Formats: sequence, structure tokens, C-alpha cells
Amino acid sequence: MKKIVTHSALAVLLALGAGTACAAVKVGFMLPYSGTYAKLGEAIENGFRLYVMEQGGKLAGQELEYFKVDDESNPAKAPENANRLIKRDQVDILVGTVHSGVAMALAKAAKDADVTLIIPNAGADAITGPLCSKGIFRSSFSNWQPGYAMGPVAAKKGYKTAVTITWNYAAGKESTNGFKESFEKAGGKVIEHLTLPFPKVEFQPLLTQIASLKPDAVYTFFAGGGAVKFVQDYAASGLNQTIPLLGSGFLTDGTLEAQGDAAKGILTTLHYADGLDTPRDNAFRASYAKQYPDMPPDVYAVQGYDAAQMLEAGLKAVNGDVKQKDAMRAAISAATIDSPRGKFTLSKAGNPIQDIYLREVQGHKNQDIGIAAKALADPARGCRL
Ligand code: PHB
Repeated sequence: MKKIVTHSALAVLLALGAGTACAAVKVGFMLPYSGTYAKLGEAIENGFRLYVMEQGGKLAGQELEYFKVDDESNPAKAPENANRLIKRDQVDILVGTVHSGVAMALAKAAKDADVTLIIPNAGADAITGPLCSKGIFRSSFSNWQPGYAMGPVAAKKGYKTAVTITWNYAAGKESTNGFKESFEKAGGKVIEHLTLPFPKVEFQPLLTQIASLKPDAVYTFFAGGGAVKFVQDYAASGLNQTIPLLGSGFLTDGTLEAQGDAAKGILTTLHYADGLDTPRDNAFRASYAKQYPDMPPDVYAVQGYDAAQMLEAGLKAVNGDVKQKDAMRAAISAATIDSPRGKFTLSKAGNPIQDIYLREVQGHKNQDIGIAAKALADPARGCRL
């Protein structure tokens, strides 16, 4: 009798032990699956899953279990949505989101609960600024980065005055501020800053204002469905014939099929481009096209893909044991990510230090035409780590 008890106790212990070693890492996607940024969320998830598939369905030998919440790019619902993943689903890792306002609330919830967060898009400067934290990383950019890279490009073209136009929320403000900072440093002047509420697309009155202000150029931040409409309206108004449209690359990324000829010739700056023609990027694009033939391999897909690479770097360092948070985070922070965009490392604040490409819309491509800013690091103003 005694022997049987011992055996079954041993069996239970073995089962428990095996269970612990094999417990799946719970990954929570908080992304927009509806609204103007719906396609961006889908591309991010695609990219993440693609990298995991390429590793045979595991990261660092660990199975992953996915949980999803549609955040609707709605900041008002963000704390509740974040807590669905954190408290209800008890995820080990958060991956989200696209919209800067939603990401601010998500970052706060992640920090409060001490859950590691990888942001696969939202550029809110504050997250890798005053709100920076050892457990928060970005696989994307800060809003400042692409904007700042465009200022000298515009100045070199001989533009002396510019008008900025965007949605009135963190991403728009910070992107246009970045542009203003470097454009004015290079001798230009931003003469007007036009805004409308997110995600509105009634651009006509603002386009009329641009026509009467007659700047040398217009710099803009729009993305997703709103960017499609803005580029079409700008062309329909005829302004594209006289006042060149510049933007952070989100204006034309993942949107060119829908924008058609209206986007022709637009110059943008971004940490990804078409036509990089590196073995790494070509392999990524072939793999993405095979898996998702109906979607372009855009910047959002790359950011999702790299979020998975960052998680893998962390998991490898702790043999898949997500409970070793400090060691996992230190490994993510120290990683060099072999991204389709080109290799990058992370700043102390957790933001990619990366090349920002100058791109020109040619056909349905954001063709790489040079590097606008080499190894650009966000200044991480206000971050104390
Ligand atoms: C943002 O809100 O930070 C944001 C949204 C969409 C983009 C880029 C930035 O394409």
C-alpha cells in the first residue's frame, strides 16, 4: 500500500513539474481590430505570428497562448481593456498598441501590475520619456523620430515655410513638433499648425486654409483609413500641383493600394521602406507574402514581427521562465534585433535607435531613396532610469 501511495505521489509531482516547464507563455494582444486603425492592428498581429511560425510555433522553446482585446483606438476604454488582459486573462506579456492615447493608459496599467509591455506601434513620446520604465519597450519608434528626420530634408529642398496638419492628439502633436524642431533649426518656419479631432476626416475647411496660406510645403501626420482619405482629398483639391505634401511615413504605409495615383511622388520619412533589398528584408517579405497574400508587408507588420523577436531575446535568457522578470527585461534591453528594417538596438528608455529612411511614392511602393537620419535615437526627454 505504502509503495502505491509513493508511486502516485511521484507521478503527481512529475506531472506538476512537467506542467510548469511546459506552461505556455500567455501573450495578450491589445490592438485595434475596428475603426480607422483596424488594418494596422491586423498587420501587427500577422507580423508577430509570422515570426513565431518561422520558429516552429514556439519562442525559445516555449509554447505561446494568445489573448486578444479590440481596443478600438479608444482611450476612454483603455484602462478597462488593459485590465481584461492583466487581471482576467493574467497574461505574462502585453503587446499593444497602435494609438498613443490608448498606449499611455496601457503603459500605466502594465507598470502598476508589473507586467512586461512591448509596444508594437504607438509612438507617444512620454512612454519612453517621463513615463519610461524598465518593463516597457517599443519595437516601433517615438513620434518625434520620423518628424525630426523630415525637417532637414524639407530645408534642403529650399522650402522656407511650412504648414502642419494633423489629428489633435499625442501622435499628431509630437510628430509635427519633431518636424518643427528640426525644420526651424535648419532655418525654416512653421507658419500654421492645423488640427482636427481624431479620427475625423472632414479635411475640406483646412485644405481651404492651406490654399490661402500658400506655404512652400505641408507636413502631416495621418495614418490608416484617415490617411487614405487625406491624401485623396489633398489631390482632389489640386493642392498637390502647387504645394508638396510631406509626412511621416504612416501617411502612405499600408495605404497605397487605396490611395492610388493621389499619392504619387509624396515624400515621407520612416524607419522602414520598400526596396531596401537586403537579404533579411527580402526573406521577411517573401515569408509574409506567402502567409498573408492579401496584405502588403508594411511597417506595422515589421513592428509586430520585431516585437516577437524582442520577446524571444528575453525568453532565451531565462530559458522560457517568464517569472524571472528582471533577467528577461535586461536581456530585451541589451538585444540587437535583426529586423527587416535593418539591425537595431534599444536606447536606455527602451526605444529603437534606428535609421530613418527617406521614401518616395513610386507606383504602389514607398521606395527607399536614401537615409534621412542615421541611427537616430529619441532624446528620451524626462526619462530617469
Ligand atoms: C500613434 O497614435 O502613436 C500612431 C498611430 C498610428 C500610426 C503611428 C502612430 O501609424
